[in-house]
Amino acid sequence: MRAYAVKFGEDPEVWGLAGLLHDFDWEIHPDLMGHPLKGAPLLRERGVPEDIVRSILSHGSAPGLPPRETKMDKALSAVDELTGLITACVLVRPSRSLHDLTPKSVRGKWKDKAFAAAINRAEN
Ligand SMILES: [Fe+2]
Repeated sequence: MRAYAVKFGEDPEVWGLAGLLHDFDWEIHPDLMGHPLKGAPLLRERGVPEDIVRSILSHGSAPGLPPRETKMDKALSAVDELTGLITACVLVRPSRSLHDLTPKSVRGKWKDKAFAAAINRAEN
């Protein structure tokens, strides 16, 4: 998120915070109807800026959540899927380590639609 913020001329602190917080309530509301909708009030109570709350809401999939409109909204959803793919790539490596995972390997797995098929490669 921080890298995309820099790429798009936005604040990496804000985008990074959105990335860190986006799934904060998953253990409280571990279903797609509750997360992140039911977590948003907790963020607001703690003073999280509304643009971050809105982006977090937009990455959810329950009906009635705000659409992905801003660059931060779209980056958050895309990076969420990408980090899931990277995690899956790590888990099938003999080392099970991120340290020896290469971008080339991730790109190869990206093209293999059967690998980590739950990852939505069209997310934006
Ligand atoms: Fe999420």
